[in-house]
Amino acid sequence: MGTHVTRVLTLMRWGALGLLAMLMLAGPAWGAGNQLPLAKDGVHDPANPAIKMLQEPREALRSLPADVVGNNVRWVKALEQGLITPRTNILPDTPIKVLDQDVIMPRTGELPMVRFPHKQHTEWLDCSNCHEKLFKSKAGATTTMNMFQILQGEYCGVCHGAVAFPLTECNRCHSVVRK
Ligand code: HEC
Ligand code: HEC
Ligand code: HEC
Repeated sequence: MGTHVTRVLTLMRWGALGLLAMLMLAGPAWGAGNQLPLAKDGVHDPANPAIKMLQEPREALRSLPADVVGNNVRWVKALEQGLITPRTNILPDTPIKVLDQDVIMPRTGELPMVRFPHKQHTEWLDCSNCHEKLFKSKAGATTTMNMFQILQGEYCGVCHGAVAFPLTECNRCHSVVRK
């Protein structure tokens, strides 16, 4: 509760932006699932006898590195530690390209700058998931991007808050402190 309040107060400094983020904090639980029992997840029919044949998410995800947000798994760590080995391609001739290159995004006002890591993204995604529709492949070229639009589900917000860790975790992106 304490950290929640502090976070909300910090957010208020950002005016309209903070208000939006507060609404998001107060909104429904983040992530693909918060590991509720299948019978209580609002998706599965608790009366259906076949529900007992399915593995409970809690049991499936228990051994993976924990997170406090999203669906409570730190997926980047799970991949790095080799605890999961997701299938990379459906067609054998699809080329797999992992790019180890960070882009520092400096237009963040007083906040720490944003470090965008290609490595951790291209371990899950193809270049075409982002280029050239969401982002230009030239550092600093995506000049129309700002936090308001990201919170509205554009740019980074296409995935973060939907299928990747939520936008409430400011410092996971705003991680490069100015000198
Ligand atoms: C998924 C990554 C990500 C997260 C999480 C994130 N930001 Fe950002 N933020 C960005 C990017 C990218 C920019 C644009 C940087 C650029 O263009 O140089 C940005 C820009 C900003 C700016 C600069 C002004 C503006 O309107 O664009 C502010 C202020 C800001 N973010 C605040 C926040 C706050 C507060 C949070 C947490 C509630 C947050 N951000 C969470 C990625 C993120
Ligand atoms: C999750 C989204 C995402 C994926 C996937 C992605 N990129 Fe990027 N890429 C970005 C962003 C964001 C930038 C920075 C754009 C900006 O600053 O305007 C960028 C910038 C670049 C740049 C310019 C770097 C520089 O310093 O000027 C190149 C080159 C690039 N990407 C190539 C690739 C290639 C090749 C792949 C696939 C192996 C790839 N990207 C996958 C988001 C992505
Ligand atoms: C196409 C989907 C997509 C987009 C767009 C996207 N991300 Fe991500 N991002 C992911 C996924 C998937 C992960 C790994 C799962 C997770 O950490 O929740 C991730 C992880 C990250 C991580 C954590 C890396 C680590 O070492 O733990 C950072 C930081 C990050 N993204 C920043 C950004 C920023 C900044 C942008 C926008 C400039 C952005 N992402 C855009 C999908 C995306």
